[in-house]
Amino acid sequence: MTIKAIRGTRDILMPEVRYHQKVETMAGTVFERYGYSEIKLPVFEQTELFTRGIGEDTDIVHKEMYTFADRKGRSLTLRPEGTASVVRAVIEHGLARQGQITRLYYSGPMFRYERPQKGRYRQFYQVGVEAFGTSSPALDVEVIQLTINFLSSLGLKGLKVMMNSLGDREDQQVFAGKLRDYVSGKIDGYCADCKRRYETNPLRVLDCKVSGCVALNKDAPGIAEALSDGSRGHFEKVQEYLEILGIEYEINPHLVRGLDYYTQTIFEVVHDCLGSQNSICGGGRYDNLVSDFGGSPTAAAGMAVGVDRLVMVIQETEAAEEKNNAPSVYVIPMTEAELGEGLKLTSRLREMSLKVLMNYDGGSFKSQMKKAGKSGAEYAVILGPDELAKNEMTIKNFSTGEQRTCPLNSTRAELRI
Ligand code: HAM
Repeated sequence: MTIKAIRGTRDILMPEVRYHQKVETMAGTVFERYGYSEIKLPVFEQTELFTRGIGEDTDIVHKEMYTFADRKGRSLTLRPEGTASVVRAVIEHGLARQGQITRLYYSGPMFRYERPQKGRYRQFYQVGVEAFGTSSPALDVEVIQLTINFLSSLGLKGLKVMMNSLGDREDQQVFAGKLRDYVSGKIDGYCADCKRRYETNPLRVLDCKVSGCVALNKDAPGIAEALSDGSRGHFEKVQEYLEILGIEYEINPHLVRGLDYYTQTIFEVVHDCLGSQNSICGGGRYDNLVSDFGGSPTAAAGMAVGVDRLVMVIQETEAAEEKNNAPSVYVIPMTEAELGEGLKLTSRLREMSLKVLMNYDGGSFKSQMKKAGKSGAEYAVILGPDELAKNEMTIKNFSTGEQRTCPLNSTRAELRI
């Protein structure tokens, strides 16, 4: 029996591994520019750190953790994320000081028992930052700006920041009440998990991916209606500062995150090319987590980028750029006798604003077609003695395989290229 990698895990080979290295190096460079220093965290922790930190009712704690007993029977868990560990470390080593901001970054593998698919693994990689010590909206904006800066420096375009505010714990209580009222009228349509969540933690209902629940949630109240003046003011400042920095964002009043520790601003960065797993990054404020773990009250914010997804986007962007650089037409003169006519045709096609290359070096028809294919061209235009005798050319469409002849003096419209 051959042994294979566990489902949802994979070996990252060349050339993909180069992209992972590039991402990690760039993360260090950009994060340090913002004053963050690296922390290396253990890969496993006491299970309680995550159940309490992330929240009992979340999908992560409820069904996605790799939990096991060690030889002494202690319950340990492979970390599903980094924030809870950083908070533990900050308290354990007294890293947060009154009147100062403590900024930390980390990278490494995380583990979640999710259904594997494109961009979703059971062992995946994150780079993330966590900052402690101020409730200023400027810190929320620093984290968002740093994220955009980091992703842009890797050449990413077409990013979208989605934002919402969850308010403070009191706002969340008020909102939970409104949500419960809304859901109770439609409870029969919700899935079994939501029926439970509705009792224990109604906000989690908004995070449900079951299509029936997603449809019912469309008309659910947004949390904006439940925000106190203080929370609303905080969120308005975040928006004002983002505008000053020219960072585009979109407010999604139904955005919730899959972890319970958030307060105030939450955000995700999404990219179209990832399909349903379109979130590259998630983050936000979590002003209660340090005190929930027994530390002195310390406001905090952070984010984590999914490296596997980021690498996928970089590779797809590069492939698209290469494709953009490819000619649309590759001209093939079958023999030297057609070379002169080929040069003339090439110029004519370029005058029609087409991007055109031509083979000057002869060779068999097969090898010339191979060169044409390699160039990434969409069409090959073939000029042989038969074609020239009739003042024609043969056009082959590489994506459909269709082949047709056209007069040499065809217009662009007649060419259908
Ligand atoms: P998260 O949204 O659970 O947040 O994960 C952050 C990112 O990790 C996601 O946007 C995604 O790119 C990536 N990711 C998550 N699960 C998987 C998976 N199964 N396969 C591949 N990539 C995945 C957190 O983890 C928070 N700790 C972020 C944070 C830091 N909030 C405040 N500070």
